[in-house]
Amino acid sequence: MATTFDFNNKTVAVIGGTSGINRGIAERFAAAGAQVAVASRSQDKVDDTVASLKARGAAAALGIAFDVRDPEAVAEGFAKIHESFGDLDILVSGAAGNFPALAADMSVNAFKTVIDIDLMGTIHVMKAAYPYLTRPGASIISISAPQSYLPYEGQSHVCAAKAGVDQITRTLSLEWGLEGIRINSVVPGFIDGTEGAKRLAPSPEVLKGLTRSIPLGRLGDCDDVANACLFLGSDMASYISGTVLAVDGALYQRGSGSTGEMMGHMLRAASAQKKG
Ligand code: COA
Ligand code: NAP
Repeated sequence: MATTFDFNNKTVAVIGGTSGINRGIAERFAAAGAQVAVASRSQDKVDDTVASLKARGAAAALGIAFDVRDPEAVAEGFAKIHESFGDLDILVSGAAGNFPALAADMSVNAFKTVIDIDLMGTIHVMKAAYPYLTRPGASIISISAPQSYLPYEGQSHVCAAKAGVDQITRTLSLEWGLEGIRINSVVPGFIDGTEGAKRLAPSPEVLKGLTRSIPLGRLGDCDDVANACLFLGSDMASYISGTVLAVDGALYQRGSGSTGEMMGHMLRAASAQKKG
């Protein structure tokens, strides 16, 4: 797809930007001329992504390894990004973890792990980035999920966490608006070939049913989500803040219905088998 946005002289940080949807976003900002920083836990994934960002035309690329669950490491990471790149024009916060599990079968720590990564991780990222955001003009984008407003069986942890992520978006749009900082959430639908989609549709039957349930008749791809982020990061979105933008092929209009039911059925069968 031709790049229609120009992010020359802009600085972008994508947290959790080393695989899947978020890496796709980082690569599109790179191709549009931005200097791009990425961060995630794995140094190998970080290094591989930085090489790809450079190859795609980033004005500069930087990668740092940290875990969003560790607020001090996140703060140190943003200080390093600022030292190299200066103030941030665009921040994408997308680190997340997910696995399907019924609430009754999940340990307390399993539930908390997803809350710690998705929800606490988001507020750690927001607070650490805050001193370094361009004022006025910065654009923050949180990568949320349909679980924020649709209940899915086997997803109580993610539903709780992502609903919180979107409430952080709405609240910070009030708190930071007067400084000229915009913040929005982007909600990808089911995105083809990604880790998230593989975890939620682990068999061809589930994937087929899931695809059938999407009104636009196909899974999304990483570029669909990146396009929305380029728009929200640009001046064309200068009066958009506090919104939750679904990039989901109208999945929301149909609800979680059959997909959630299939997942619930699968997990209950597995749980019953385990219990003998
Ligand atoms: N079902 C039930 N519980 C599970 C589980 C599953 N499929 N996978 C992990 N858990 C539990 C673990 O048993 C552990 O709980 P316990 O201490 O009571 O045994 C807890 O969750 C933490 O697991 P651990 O493997 O120590 O966490 P981690 O910090 O190493 O990894 C995850 C975090 C579990 C979210 C891991 O899947 C991950 O790193 N995910 C990132 C990629 C991803 O999820 N991509 C999709 C994004 S939508
Ligand atoms: P993915 O490929 O697994 O990407 C997750 C990214 O987050 C990776 O870069 C990972 O790198 C990083 N990460 C995970 N835990 C982290 C932690 N504790 N600290 C720092 N970084 C961490 O997943 P994806 O499927 O593309 O999903 C990306 C985003 O889209 C997520 O926010 C997800 O909720 C959302 N989403 C996805 C779908 C979908 O269909 N895939 C649908 C709706 C919403 P490391 O392993 O190196 O840490």
